[in-house]
Amino acid sequence: MKLIIISNRLPLKIIEEDNQYKVVASDGGLATGLNSLETLHEKHWVGWPGMYLEEGTEKEQIDAEMLKQNFHPVYLTPEQIENYYEGYSNSVLWPMCHYFSTYMRYEPVYWEAYKEVNKLFCDEACRIIEPGDIVWVQDYQLMLLPALIRECVQDISIGYFLHIPFPSYELFRSLPERADLLNGLLGADLVGSHTHSYMRHFISAVYRVLKYDCNLDEIQLDSRVVDVDALPMGINYQLYYDSSLKTAIRKKAKELKNNFGDGKIILSVDRLDYSKGILIRLESFRQFLENHPEWHNRVSLVMIVSPSRDNVEMYAELKDQIDQMVGSINGKYSTSQWTPIHYFYRGFDFNEVTAIYYIADVALVTPLRDGMNLVAKEYLAAKRTKPGVLILSEMAGASNELYDAIIVNPTDVKEVENAILTALEMPVAEQKQSLKAMQDIISVQTVQQWAVDFIEELGGVRKKMIS
Ligand code: G6P
Repeated sequence: MKLIIISNRLPLKIIEEDNQYKVVASDGGLATGLNSLETLHEKHWVGWPGMYLEEGTEKEQIDAEMLKQNFHPVYLTPEQIENYYEGYSNSVLWPMCHYFSTYMRYEPVYWEAYKEVNKLFCDEACRIIEPGDIVWVQDYQLMLLPALIRECVQDISIGYFLHIPFPSYELFRSLPERADLLNGLLGADLVGSHTHSYMRHFISAVYRVLKYDCNLDEIQLDSRVVDVDALPMGINYQLYYDSSLKTAIRKKAKELKNNFGDGKIILSVDRLDYSKGILIRLESFRQFLENHPEWHNRVSLVMIVSPSRDNVEMYAELKDQIDQMVGSINGKYSTSQWTPIHYFYRGFDFNEVTAIYYIADVALVTPLRDGMNLVAKEYLAAKRTKPGVLILSEMAGASNELYDAIIVNPTDVKEVENAILTALEMPVAEQKQSLKAMQDIISVQTVQQWAVDFIEELGGVRKKMIS
């Protein structure tokens, strides 16, 4: 029996270096989180390797290299990237699911490409799927895939996990393709999401659009039942908890601390995305500096923004706005001894990011909407026994588990400003107590546990059907 994971991105990507194609690890995201998964099943992975290769000898060699590790690449043409990935996935579904409906850009060609690419993924997967296998489809880019696969192969278990919020029916109903998307998802035996509220929104959409009988966690179709559950994803806890034991990371932490000076460090780490609330977070920090001159020279915000989807108009605009705002805050408050914001527009590797987690006194994680947010969990784990405070948006799925954080409404600038002050002044004993309480939770609900729970529950649905 095989486990076949299907996600838009593979945990590997192809890059061109010195006129040669190479296969390297993808940076961050769900694919890398899931890649650390250990399972008793033979694991295969179907996904996009991040680059289009024309047929030719080099492609064959790259394919062979990936296949050796059970990775099955789906190559997407530049048009498919434009219309399926940047288009329907990231200019229609992403803004809608994050309640940015005014950011939606709708073109009929996007939907055509979305159907076409979901079918491509299906064809690649069906080449390897055999009866008895477990298929696990990931995220919003592949909502049609569960039903497409079910049409091709029967007698398999199909699971689907949505990593972003499922929006309220009142928003979802506006999509012309609402019924097709729901029917696509209902090809699965189990549909999982990070929180109960996303799960409720999904069930309510199914009930109202497709008129199926729905209970709290079950949807009755004509010939089978689809289970729906909330299973919050975790991280590879031990990897982050032990990171500061590595000499290279300790050394990096020391070097960074020296560079940033004696003051306290507030850390913000995100992919470039309007859903992350970066601009309003900067506004809160600006107001904090304005209203608390006693903290000038004594605190800096280290802001890491990793480039993402920059061919999509809204992302490119956001980048310019962030640049301007950082410039205006630093321009106003910097002194010859002190820079209020250290801003990095690039990805950080594991060693660098864990070194910064380790030295940061406060993590400011204030997305306007976020399916889960793993940065919050990584920060808590990487602190090990060192004090640190997490300020967390109530709009992040992670806030349902991390109630010992300082929970804020990210759009309430005053509340975030006050939270920054509370965090900076929090006694060490209190910091350690909250940190420990949250570590106790995330050290149990790891990514491994999440996957084991999902696959076990999927097996349960199958048993129910057979009996
Ligand atoms: C979010 C999505 C993932 C996606 C990741 C990175 O976490 O839920 O599906 O892989 O962002 O985005 P990208 O567009 O670069 O794959």
